[in-house]
Amino acid sequence: MITREKAGELAGKALEARRYSYHPYSGFAVGAALLTREGEIYTGCNIENAAFTPTNCAERTAFFKAVSEGERDFTAIAVAGGAEDAALPLEDCPPCGVCLQVMMEFCDPASFEVILVRSEDDYNSLTLAELLPKGFGPGNVREE
Ligand code: THU
Repeated sequence: MITREKAGELAGKALEARRYSYHPYSGFAVGAALLTREGEIYTGCNIENAAFTPTNCAERTAFFKAVSEGERDFTAIAVAGGAEDAALPLEDCPPCGVCLQVMMEFCDPASFEVILVRSEDDYNSLTLAELLPKGFGPGNVREE
């Protein structure tokens, strides 16, 4: 479990990243902050597209930034999402199935924490296994 202090810091960074969200089609703004085991934080926002399907969620933006810089070991991600003009506290914004699948690739489902952010000091932490029980991961394809 990450400390309360770290969870609060991640929540703040997810809310900050949410400001950069590009969401002209849905009006829904999401920010994420991903923590590595070494203590680095990578942020991301959702990036929509006129052709719709190329849209990337905030969580995957954070993961792809981190993995493309050599990171493979993660302990937690904070996610803050809601209508662009929503006031705090936000409602919980759980990651979509595609993002959960990306998490399965790099994270231990039993211990990786997904922090659903309502405000900097109001959040709810769940494990990846709670959000995606019986998830399909690298161990299903090859021996680990
Ligand atoms: N979205 C995210 O970025 N993360 C989530 O956890 C849920 C959905 C984005 C995708 C799209 O740009 C908008 O929110 C509405 O679905």
